[in-house]
Amino acid sequence: MIDLIVCLLLLLGISACVAEVYFVAAYARSGFGEYPPFFPSFGRMKKMCLNEAREILRRADKPSVVADLGCGSGSLLIPLAKEFPQHEFVGYDWDVVPYAIAALRARHLPNVRLYCADFTKADFKEADLVLIFGGKKLFAEWGGQFVRGLKNGAAVISEAFPITQLEAEKEIAAPSYGMPLKVYTYRIDKKTLAK
Ligand SMILES: C[S@@+](CC[C@H](N)C(=O)[O-])C[C@H]1O[C@@H](n2cnc3c(N)ncnc32)[C@H](O)[C@@H]1O
Repeated sequence: MIDLIVCLLLLLGISACVAEVYFVAAYARSGFGEYPPFFPSFGRMKKMCLNEAREILRRADKPSVVADLGCGSGSLLIPLAKEFPQHEFVGYDWDVVPYAIAALRARHLPNVRLYCADFTKADFKEADLVLIFGGKKLFAEWGGQFVRGLKNGAAVISEAFPITQLEAEKEIAAPSYGMPLKVYTYRIDKKTLAK
């Protein structure tokens, strides 16, 4: 019995060390917080993103393409893909751990495609709706290229960070666990972008 308890404690200790190493490596990869590291969408912010995406997808009069940039473990992508089998969902995450979790969760969903890749190197000109968890630095450096690459009329839902190159349609207060977070929604209008 004592042997079993010691083995379990050892296993627990090793798992905690592996998790610690993973989170430090993920944080380093994110430029020490400059770019979004992995953590699942949470609280009211997650709820608001899902509500906004549902409203757009329910109104769509044809099958739509939804791109989730930094899909993490799929907290937004998976429930939406289950709820809207008529739409196609594409997720990108460059971190193999959340990517593997999302891939496992999506294994029976034929309307989901996942890529373990850098989304700043991909193109989203086919996307009708984009979900993104960016960051100040990411939007400052890549936001212009990102919005220019989207098609006219595409909708964008941004968690926590505004996309400074666009004017928000809605700014929704989404306080979560004491943090004054917001969700921002946008609609691409090529005429306004050209000015
Ligand atoms: C805050 S998490 C998003 C969480 C996700 N909505 C979920 O619920 O799991 C941000 C994710 O973006 C990913 N990420 C950040 N920059 C990226 C990039 N350039 N290409 C691909 N993934 C990126 C990170 O690995 C991280 O998993």
